[in-house]
Amino acid sequence: MKVVVIGGTGLIGTKVVSKLRQLGHEVIAASPSTGINTHTGEGLAEALSNTNIVVDLANSPSFDEKTAVEFFQTAGRNLLAAEINAGVGHHVAVSIVGVDRMQDNGYMKAKIVQENLIKASGVPYTIIRSTQFLEFLAGIATAATQGNEVHLSEVKFQPIAAEDVASFVVQAALAAPINGKLEIAGPDRYALNEIVAKYLKKTNDPRKVLNDGKAQYFGTQISDTALVPVGEALLGEISFNKWVSNQGQTA
Ligand SMILES: NC(=O)c1ccc[n+]([C@@H]2O[C@H](COP(=O)([O-])OP(=O)(O)OC[C@H]3O[C@@H](n4cnc5c(N)ncnc54)[C@H](OP(=O)(O)O)[C@@H]3O)[C@@H](O)[C@H]2O)c1
Repeated sequence: MKVVVIGGTGLIGTKVVSKLRQLGHEVIAASPSTGINTHTGEGLAEALSNTNIVVDLANSPSFDEKTAVEFFQTAGRNLLAAEINAGVGHHVAVSIVGVDRMQDNGYMKAKIVQENLIKASGVPYTIIRSTQFLEFLAGIATAATQGNEVHLSEVKFQPIAAEDVASFVVQAALAAPINGKLEIAGPDRYALNEIVAKYLKKTNDPRKVLNDGKAQYFGTQISDTALVPVGEALLGEISFNKWVSNQGQTA
């Protein structure tokens, strides 16, 4: 099969490209740095010629609402139109668990724009809604830092390793399109402040995590279960301890 991985040079994209190649598929790792740009349309038609599957793992250059909505709207329209022209049989994208429950947040609005374009496109599709990647813990801590304190609430959190995400993406891409959504999450559920404190401790980071019930998540007040699957979800195999020890830290 020929598979084009948009964002094939990113965190999840690199792993998806390598797993698909190991399985013997012909894979194009598409990104602006390889001359394929979904935002401008550059190189898309050529890359998609004779393509069976497109996996979209691109991300917006910034999380602010204006930039992110514009990115996912323009890139989504360009990509899906090129897929229709090329007769692509399956479009796979990674969205976020709880995205519809956090519509006060600009980035979450942008991801819903992306999902809606896919659903309306007529291209057979699978949308994978994932919880936050374990690789994102450092960014969460940084965003919540005030001085030497990290302000986070006790909302439920079930992060998944990028490696597990990539395995689920490959599995979904090679299966028949479900024309719907499926959810994936990590194997263990924590409180957000608890897992970030654990991460900082394991990485010898001196910042202290404060349990702050009023703390927002990237500028948005969210419910206790906004970030975790409420129904059925596929669970990854890599625990926090296993993941952190693979980062070269003491587990
Ligand atoms: N972070 C999380 O916890 C989380 C949770 C759930 C879902 N997601 C979703 O997962 C997806 C992948 O995230 P990630 O962390 O793997 O992203 P990432 O590491 O930031 O990689 C983004 C990729 O997008 C490419 N890209 C940027 N602009 C592009 C354009 N105009 N055309 C084509 N490619 C472009 C980049 O290429 P260059 O290298 O050339 O810039 C890079 O390969 C995103 O859609 C994100 O919303 C993330």
